[in-house]
Amino acid sequence: MSEALPSESVIGRLAVEQKLVTPEELNACVNEQKELAATGKKLPLSEVMIKAGYVTRSQLQRLSGDMEDSIAKKAQQIPGYQILGKLGAGAMATVFKARQLSLDRVVAIKVLPKKLSEDPEFVERFKKEGRAAAKLNHNNIVQAIEIGNAGGYHYFVMEYIDGKTVYDDLAAGRLYSEKEALKIIIQVARALEHASARGFVHRDVKPKNIMLTRDNVAKLADMGLARETSDMKAARAEAGRAYGTPYYISPEQIRGEERIDFRADMYSLGCTLYHMVTGKVPFEGSTPSAVMNKHLKEPVVPPDHIVPTLSAGVGEVIERMMAKKREDRYPSWSDLLADLEAVARGEPPLMARQQLNANVLAELADGGLTEAPPAPVPVQAGPAPVPGKLWLAIIILSALLGISLILNFILVASS
Ligand SMILES: Nc1ncnc2c1ncn2[C@@H]1O[C@H](COP(=O)(O)OP(=O)(O)O)[C@@H](O)[C@H]1O
Ligand SMILES: [Mg+2]
Repeated sequence: MSEALPSESVIGRLAVEQKLVTPEELNACVNEQKELAATGKKLPLSEVMIKAGYVTRSQLQRLSGDMEDSIAKKAQQIPGYQILGKLGAGAMATVFKARQLSLDRVVAIKVLPKKLSEDPEFVERFKKEGRAAAKLNHNNIVQAIEIGNAGGYHYFVMEYIDGKTVYDDLAAGRLYSEKEALKIIIQVARALEHASARGFVHRDVKPKNIMLTRDNVAKLADMGLARETSDMKAARAEAGRAYGTPYYISPEQIRGEERIDFRADMYSLGCTLYHMVTGKVPFEGSTPSAVMNKHLKEPVVPPDHIVPTLSAGVGEVIERMMAKKREDRYPSWSDLLADLEAVARGEPPLMARQQLNANVLAELADGGLTEAPPAPVPVQAGPAPVPGKLWLAIIILSALLGISLILNFILVASS
């Protein structure tokens, strides 16, 4: 596993907080970095910022040193654990490898930044979800062990995974074969089925949150560490901070809908599968809001148009998972799993096809083109209901027939 440097995105944010650069300047650097990457030239964000003349190398070094020192120092103070090193950092937190002294085992500890630790609403939610997450137990979920607070910092202790994330592979330019990708996605879908049966929605399914052990067991991370109070708030915050482009977020989360359910995770898992088998995120854009707009409105390029060797089946499954309207997605994890497993065996995805037919019938019954209101509870595809408009048409036709008969009768009688 790569010992990550302080996360580039965190450095960017800190540089803004310390007023070394403006948010606009940071945005410009992020865009510049993307343009360079598109021409095959990959540069870390810090290098782009230095090249643009916004900061000096020593300023950035000081910044990253300060940050590292303060979080690492805090982590050293967590009672009962000995910090062994740093595992990585995401947009929101730093993860350390540590030894749990009481049980003499290696664990991972996620330390939240001070900002979040000082937000009482967040802390309450963090505690509540942490407690609940600890009750989940599944071979494909990173096991939660403990939550706590030391020196004003909240932390989350979890099972240590000796391996890598799917993101690490993708970032290294790896394309997964359909078979390999399905093997991983099936395990994650099982994890999410387990969690959803216990009332959990993950809300942040993405390649960085799927870890792979050395024996290729997939482990879903950050279960129960839901985003801040609302998804839209988090998405906007990310957009504003110019990092964490929302490549995998569902349309309903973007719209800030309140009742997010398992189908949001299904959408994100579909985006993740798409990325794994095509090497591309489903929607690209120069800004986070451009990407979010595409999630809302733009149809996705079929995966087999990008990689022609992919089966039609995997394309159909991804299309169902990534349906813009959640009622068009699979109505349960078990239906999705049936299809994923069928495609993995080289068979057609029957559920996707049944679902498609059921939807066409439902739309007809609903009067064709008018948009159906969102179903509050997902329903299994049942027998086709009698189309209401059909009855109306029959009545009108019968009436017309009657009138024409009477007219004919009058005409004959008068001639
Ligand atoms: N349980 C764990 N065991 C080993 N490494 C982990 C664990 N959890 C997270 N990591 C590492 O720490 C990195 C940062 O994690 P995290 O802060 O959750 O980032 P993100 O917000 O992007 O998911 C991950 O990409 C992974 O490399
Ligand atoms: Mg994570």
